[in-house]
Amino acid sequence: MRDALGNVQSVLVLGGGSDIALATVRSLVGGRTRTVVLAAHHPEKLADVADELRAAGATTVEVVPFDADAVDGHTALVDGWFDRFGDFDVVLIAFGVLGDQDVAEVDAEAALEVARVNYLGTISVAVPVAQRMRGQGHGTIVALSSVAGERARRSNFVYGSSKAGMDAFLQGLGDSLVGTGVKVMIVRPGFVATKMTEGLNPAPLATTSDAVADAIVTGLARGSETVWVPGTLRYVMSVLRHVPRPIFRKLPL
Ligand SMILES: NC(=O)c1ccc[n+]([C@@H]2O[C@H](COP(=O)([O-])OP(=O)(O)OC[C@H]3O[C@@H](n4cnc5c(N)ncnc54)[C@H](OP(=O)(O)O)[C@@H]3O)[C@@H](O)[C@H]2O)c1
Repeated sequence: MRDALGNVQSVLVLGGGSDIALATVRSLVGGRTRTVVLAAHHPEKLADVADELRAAGATTVEVVPFDADAVDGHTALVDGWFDRFGDFDVVLIAFGVLGDQDVAEVDAEAALEVARVNYLGTISVAVPVAQRMRGQGHGTIVALSSVAGERARRSNFVYGSSKAGMDAFLQGLGDSLVGTGVKVMIVRPGFVATKMTEGLNPAPLATTSDAVADAIVTGLARGSETVWVPGTLRYVMSVLRHVPRPIFRKLPL
């Protein structure tokens, strides 16, 4: 349960190795968050991060294994974490893969991997998390969508379509939770300098993990439903969404 001032006390991160997620958790622990569970694809890489979070004041820090693609086990995993650690104020869905667009255009298995992790993986965890949060009567699901899902681009449509799907699902889930005490906050960053984008040319309005973390923490305090990072992307995308396709596909995006 958030404290009397509305501060987040406990967070579960799905995709615990994500640079954006870790920046967010560091910021939350710098506030009043004391319980952190990092569910990670490669938990063995997070021992130092766990020590750092403990040193920063978190009293419970656990790293547990999690594969977003192993959808059959997700409901049992989520139930197990809530049973073991108690209520979570925030569940951050941060896993994702960018994939290789050139390969995925011609290789269905490569395209499906992006769809499975980003879209099916999100649905598969969001449903049981929402169900447990309905039961506890409070909580916020924060999900890292992307500006790429707002309108799929020629250069990035495999990833973009998976983000469009997860974003649409989460909007509906958020609507279905109105009145339950549970919220969904969808975060749509533009280009962020992280492991995922290493070696790529930064897009216009590129930002950092710390800036996304700040926007998430501010969004949680405000009870926002949608957070764009940087905020100006909201206006850029509201124009780009309506550009006719023959023109849109020629834009250098
Ligand atoms: N960076 C950007 O420009 C940008 C922009 C908009 C949205 N986003 C979204 O923000 C989220 C976080 O990305 P990031 O930028 O922080 O990149 P990141 O550091 O590469 O984080 C992505 C995380 O997803 C995990 N992951 C991948 N496949 C997984 C699987 N099957 N099961 C469990 N975890 C898996 C990765 O774990 P391993 O590395 O251990 O496999 C990694 O920790 C993603 O959803 C991404 O799509 C990123």
